Amino acid sequence: MSRAILPGATVGVLGSGQLGRMFALAARRMGYRVHTFSPGDDTPMGQVADREAVGDYADLDAVAEFASRVDVVTFEFENVPFEAARTASEHVPVRPRGEVLHTAQHRQREKDFLHGAGFPTAPFEHVPDRATLGGALERLGTPAVLKTAGFGYDGKGQAVIHAPEQAEEAWQSIGAGEAVLEGFVEFEREISVVAARGCDGEFAHYGVTENRHRDHILDVSIPDPDIDPKITANAVEIARGVLEALDVVGVLCVEFFLTHDGELVVNELAPRPHNSGHFSFDACVTSQFEQQLRAVCALPLGDTRRLRPSAMVNLLGDLWDNGMPDWRAALADPSLKLHLYGKADARPGRKMGHMTAFGDDGEDAARRVIAAREALTRRP
Ligand SMILES: Nc1ncnc2c1ncn2[C@@H]1O[C@H](COP(=O)(O)OP(=O)(O)O)[C@@H](O)[C@H]1O
Ligand SMILES: [Mg+2]
Repeated sequence: MSRAILPGATVGVLGSGQLGRMFALAARRMGYRVHTFSPGDDTPMGQVADREAVGDYADLDAVAEFASRVDVVTFEFENVPFEAARTASEHVPVRPRGEVLHTAQHRQREKDFLHGAGFPTAPFEHVPDRATLGGALERLGTPAVLKTAGFGYDGKGQAVIHAPEQAEEAWQSIGAGEAVLEGFVEFEREISVVAARGCDGEFAHYGVTENRHRDHILDVSIPDPDIDPKITANAVEIARGVLEALDVVGVLCVEFFLTHDGELVVNELAPRPHNSGHFSFDACVTSQFEQQLRAVCALPLGDTRRLRPSAMVNLLGDLWDNGMPDWRAALADPSLKLHLYGKADARPGRKMGHMTAFGDDGEDAARRVIAAREALTRRP
């Protein structure tokens, strides 16, 4: 058995965004101290952490100094250089291990891992440079999606190619040195499974969540959608297989496309808590953030059971276009849960917060939470 890291200990987090903020809130509630390391200051996580260390992920001396002052290191952001994880691991356990990040932060390595391990993916081609794009398009056909190999999020660094003539424009628009071309999947819907694995291989999952996107950014998540239980079981087994194959200690989300024939296609992996698991903060016995804490501290995993049917909406910076959203109007629903991430600058498309509502079932909760979001910008 791995030695447990107990309350009173200090957990270090590489990254400082909203995922780290919610992790810190969960960890502090259980009596842990939390330190964050990132290039920013007054960050969403730094505002609620015991210590906000500011440094570049490539500054390995700074990473070493950070790691030497904590008992375990985890992540809330996967685009940390592998070297930073390795440096931290010379001082304390790093969970999940740096190799998990290394795989999940690069679409080609991620696709190679998934394909090699026998998990279903869309057909894909490696596009190391502009010269190889034409051949890749010939082999895959159109429509296809060109994605940067690294540093993509919220649909950034992606372009759909409908005809070979659009290759140049797509290449320019993603501005990539290295890319992956994927076959376009005509999906019926998008779903995800957030799951956790403990130090001794214990596994827990949050079932299937349906994710509705707008402009490639997650808009609404509804846990436990009405789909064939066989598909749910299959998705959970794929997630279990991925966490085992990567030897993950921590939380990992598998994003899927569900096709019209009921086939599951793995879209991508996120080796950390995920936006589609935010409902768990208010609607589960154990949130995905507490679960991450339990996993990386070698504690028993918590119960993922739902307290009530729920749904979550993201709050993007666009909601601030005509001034401060009307929080009182949304909170007129007394069971609505409002989460804001402490970001001062409300840019369009930026994730500023989220809301979770409850209902008789997921669709009822979704109607309520969407209505609450509409109330935010309704002017008298
Ligand atoms: N191959 C594809 N076929 C169809 N839609 C896609 C494909 N790849 C991405 N998308 C759409 O774009 C969204 C964002 O793409 P994703 O690869 O998950 O990148 P990100 O890192 O931005 O989340 C997906 O959730 C999906 O809606
Ligand atoms: Mg995605």
